[in-house]
Amino acid sequence: MHEIVRIRIVALGIGFALLAACAGRDTGIPALYDELGGEPGVAAIVDAFILEIAQDELVRPHFRTIDIAGFRGRLEEFLCVVADGECKYSGRSMPEAHATLGIERAAFNSIVEDLIAAMDSNGISYATQNALLARLAVMEADIVTVR
Ligand code: HEM
Repeated sequence: MHEIVRIRIVALGIGFALLAACAGRDTGIPALYDELGGEPGVAAIVDAFILEIAQDELVRPHFRTIDIAGFRGRLEEFLCVVADGECKYSGRSMPEAHATLGIERAAFNSIVEDLIAAMDSNGISYATQNALLARLAVMEADIVTVR
């Protein structure tokens, strides 16, 4: 084989190897789900969140008749998916789940405060909290039906 052609093939090989290495490279930025503590972290946040909801006068009345164990499981799955974790959400869409609940903006804002308190008590950094809250804030229009 001609020397130049051989060198080019070797160079191409090195190029592909580098590309493959880059594609699979860890960016050093953990996924949001990892920042929330993965499965045990999100489970702890959801538990604390439910305790906050139980003390929230604006929100608690809506949860009087629901199956809390089922809600806990669906919410864990939902937050996992929202945070790019590898989970499957088995619940309804946000409009479907909240359509008949008559939720006002004040209740939505209050539940956001409950979630912040739950994340605070689990030592989640403000940057991570804000990243999750930003992803949830856009769902307000699907959840608040009383304006
Ligand atoms: C960012 C805000 C919110 C998120 C991410 C969220 C998420 C969810 C999820 C994942 C479910 C489970 C749905 C299912 O099992 O099919 C659910 C159900 C429910 N949510 Fe929300 N929610 C939010 C705000 C609110 C607010 C503000 C209220 C009331 C004040 C509320 C009341 C409920 C109730 C009562 C259920 C149970 C409905 C049922 O089982 O029939 N949610 N929510």
